[in-house]
Amino acid sequence: MDTPDLLPMSRRHLLILGVVTAATAVLPPFISARASAVNSSRPITTSLSLWVNDQQYELDLDTRTTLLDALREHLHLTGSKKGCDHGQCGACTVIANGRRINSCLTLAVMHQGSKITTIEGLGTPDQLHPMQAAFIRHDGYQCGYCTPGQICSAVAVLGEIRQGIPSHASPSLTEPPQLIAGEIQERMSGNICRCGAYSNIIEAISEVAGVNA
Ligand code: FES
Ligand code: FES
Repeated sequence: MDTPDLLPMSRRHLLILGVVTAATAVLPPFISARASAVNSSRPITTSLSLWVNDQQYELDLDTRTTLLDALREHLHLTGSKKGCDHGQCGACTVIANGRRINSCLTLAVMHQGSKITTIEGLGTPDQLHPMQAAFIRHDGYQCGYCTPGQICSAVAVLGEIRQGIPSHASPSLTEPPQLIAGEIQERMSGNICRCGAYSNIIEAISEVAGVNA
């Protein structure tokens, strides 16, 4: 009876085996490391503390957790919305150290020590932030899905203009940008509203900024 060792191997089989072995030998180290990480069934977790809405939270998180998922799934702050999860709609916008960011595009572990503000930290139902109140006055929403991101973005946008940070619409890179509707529209262009409430949103922001829309 034939044993496996003695089974005949064709020249074709030998050639295929040789190609596979050579390809494995020349794999760059990062691909091998990635392959073993992908094959590993255990996530790598880490402890971190996040400052969110003036409160400190201690978390043990999978290192791949986005800031958006940390806020929504772990801290149950569901005001920040997941629209595209690809940095394209702005529904997940939060403020980190005074700057607006897409929280779906950044990892929670990158924000140890950052001061994060979500829509829940801007105001309360009894004491609305001026931007929240203006959105209500001007009907700056329909379904409301984009609204938390729009409001966080709008608050940060007014800060950017007041700090003199130019935008694509600014006529000069060295002169302070003007607080005008065109500047606000350009800076808000990363926040998509599927309901098309744009004109009311600009009216609300302009009112808070004290300019004519
Ligand atoms: Fe983050 Fe769309 S969910 S940009
Ligand atoms: Fe519906 Fe903007 S209010 S997406």
